[in-house]
Amino acid sequence: MKHLTSLLAVLGLAAFVNLAVGTAAFADNIEQLARDSGCLSCHSAKEKIVGPSFSAVAQKYKGQSDAIPQLVQAVKNGSKGTWGRIPMPGHSSIADEDVKRLVTWVLTH
Ligand code: HEC
Repeated sequence: MKHLTSLLAVLGLAAFVNLAVGTAAFADNIEQLARDSGCLSCHSAKEKIVGPSFSAVAQKYKGQSDAIPQLVQAVKNGSKGTWGRIPMPGHSSIADEDVKRLVTWVLTH
């Protein structure tokens, strides 16, 4: 019985560590995906580059329930006139699922 208890404790700890590492890996991966997808050549977290900062985007769409599908369309098809005169080209070659992950991440800024 004593062994079983410590085995469970070890398993519990392993699951916890796994979860913590998994969450950190998600944050790294998504940033890598943004870099690989070219987003970070025009956007940064806090400063306007060519496009608006991700925190400005998150601020603008805060509390808007259809923000994710709307922004998925904007990233896939391109967008112009919402933030200024420079348009964002479309990104039709990025998988829908990845665009959705990127947009969800942008809104966490
Ligand atoms: C060539 C530069 C460029 C690249 C590359 C780029 N963006 Fe943009 N992005 C812009 C510009 C410029 C705007 C503002 C467009 C406008 O005014 O409608 C914008 C706007 C946005 C918006 C807000 C759209 C809206 O309707 O409010 C989001 C979200 C966004 N970009 C995410 C991304 C993501 C994710 C990527 C990578 C897949 C990416 N961008 C790649 C330039 C870029």
